[in-house]
Amino acid sequence: MSQDQITSLLQEDRLFYPPRDFQEQAHIRSLEQYRALYARSLEDPEGFWAEMASALHWFRRWDRVLQWDPPQAQWFLGGQTNLCYNCVDRHLQSWRRNKAALIWEGEPGEERVLTYQDLYREVSRFANVLRSLGVGKGDRVAIYMPLVPEAVVAMLACARIGAVHSVVFGGFSSEALRDRVNDAGARLIVTADGGWRRGRIVPLKDYVDEALRRGAPTVEHVVVLRRTHQEVSWEPGRDHWWDELMAAASASCPAEPLDSEHPLFILYTSGTTGKPKGVVHTTGGYMVYTATTARYVFDLREEDTYWCTADIGWITGHSYVVYGILANGATSLIYEGAPDWPDPGRFWSIVEKYRVSIFYTAPTAIRAFIRWGEAYPRRYDLSSLRLLGTVGEPINPEAWMWYYRVIGGGRCPIVDTWWQTETGGIMISPLPGATPLVPGSCTLPFFGIEADVVDREGRSLPPNTGGFLVIRRPWPGMMRTIYGDEARYRRQYWEEIPGLYFSGDGARRDERGYFWVMGRVDDVINTSGHRLGTMEIESALVSHAAVAEAAVVGRPDPVVGTAIVAFVVLRPGADPSPKLKEALREHVAQQIGPIARPQEIIFTDGLPKTRSGKIMRRLLRQLASGEERLGDMTTLESAEVIERLRAQMGSEEEE
Ligand code: PRX
Repeated sequence: MSQDQITSLLQEDRLFYPPRDFQEQAHIRSLEQYRALYARSLEDPEGFWAEMASALHWFRRWDRVLQWDPPQAQWFLGGQTNLCYNCVDRHLQSWRRNKAALIWEGEPGEERVLTYQDLYREVSRFANVLRSLGVGKGDRVAIYMPLVPEAVVAMLACARIGAVHSVVFGGFSSEALRDRVNDAGARLIVTADGGWRRGRIVPLKDYVDEALRRGAPTVEHVVVLRRTHQEVSWEPGRDHWWDELMAAASASCPAEPLDSEHPLFILYTSGTTGKPKGVVHTTGGYMVYTATTARYVFDLREEDTYWCTADIGWITGHSYVVYGILANGATSLIYEGAPDWPDPGRFWSIVEKYRVSIFYTAPTAIRAFIRWGEAYPRRYDLSSLRLLGTVGEPINPEAWMWYYRVIGGGRCPIVDTWWQTETGGIMISPLPGATPLVPGSCTLPFFGIEADVVDREGRSLPPNTGGFLVIRRPWPGMMRTIYGDEARYRRQYWEEIPGLYFSGDGARRDERGYFWVMGRVDDVINTSGHRLGTMEIESALVSHAAVAEAAVVGRPDPVVGTAIVAFVVLRPGADPSPKLKEALREHVAQQIGPIARPQEIIFTDGLPKTRSGKIMRRLLRQLASGEERLGDMTTLESAEVIERLRAQMGSEEEE
């Protein structure tokens, strides 16, 4: 076996066909229809994407669909458009004017609905506010806010005047904020006095003050929304209240025609080296790609109430809370707070109350719901749901089954959508009216996406051989560069496997051609000469009745090369005994083979995660290897988990 291949041991053969009534009304109604359109999108990509782009408004039509000078793509060259115009103004010309664009629920329970007309007024006024503070085309604006309608308004207002936003997740520290503000050279920060999280105030304005004290020389103004109403410190001249500026601003601000390749936003994503990368997306291609994927993957219909639980601080929030959804004139629901506040039924109470029909969330949330128990969702009427989605990590087949059965009532297709901050939009996913589903697989590539699994030289691998997940040609939503670091863009994405876009993920395809993402290649474990994806071993553990969550890492071992160490969170009531450890090791051996049997199992009450819910295996790997100094922890959600684990492991060694 070549060094590049990853052994796959996971077997999954449950198959779920789209329900007949779903299929009959879907945009794409059969696998044949998908295949025909997919073939066309690859044979004539320019024709295909021109047709998709024509559904949107352009002030000036493009001269050229694609200019490809690898690895630099320019889409809809010569065209001029405005994404804010397409998300807002375009809908005012029809009855959609009075349709809900945003439905918002605050954590303390407030509700607000903004129609497209309302959104138009607020966005236009805030665009004028930005201009009045000297922000113009190409200037960078940092947005550091709770999930409130004004956060969406601020994003759209930037897009309206051609300012480049950089949304920084409101859960990040002042240090993380400062790094991002400085890297982007932001002139202005939009924030709030605070946001609500689990009944407590997150003092955002204090964090901004702290970031500016530590040094952010490019920032001239801070606009502060009143949300939590506690005292905040104030620097006259620099700080401004949102409501005061808005009261003085005109509601007329025509959307600026922008070149298709005008930068739309920078979004920072953590790199393996620790220094965050500013992923740059531009206007026309991103717009067409997010609008098209949203329409087909979520099968959007006029009457849907769509809820994506992601924060706008992540790419999922950019593409599928805001841009792709509003560009389709759909209703996007947003909720400010935590899923377990005041109790773990909160999400389901929201689904019931607003009759949510499409629900899109992350596997980490699903695993938390599993742990909290079926009783919570069972208390609510979830019959309005017709489609479910997941994103962010591979979903363990057992978690998929739970989601399908308990949340979807066995009635709703699940779209397991694989994509990245860098790809701008969904790349591999079922189309819910067309694609038969297999739990744990993100199935087939979207139109225009030539995805493949290859070895290090870029050669396609045969079915069921794990390798590198790559994309063979440009697509409209792809990132254009890393802000201020073009060399890193080229090196990391286009030179590892020469000429192809390398995602950094390991994957395999099965006989059907379905993709199975096995996680980041950095997480692959080489044990006794086999390269195993951690994902499959984790899924085997999670399929045991006592296990809620698991993270698997490698530890250098003189005998097997790398020993498999599993950190396991048990379900409530399970007894963390040596006997259970043995049973779990045996369970993995039975589920996927003796080669994958963990050498060690460590029970823990939590796993270290990034703030977007991804397990930080790097930290666990360092812990398991007994390293004293752990690397960068600024993206960690809570340092306590690591401290507890470190203490626990120290005492176990002494025993
Ligand atoms: O490893 C893949 C995993 O998340 C990575 C991208 O993370 P980020 O840029 O934060 O974007 C998350 C939201 C798009 C990928 O490289 N990932 C994302 N979706 C899936 C996934 N892994 C498996 N299955 C998915 N559906």
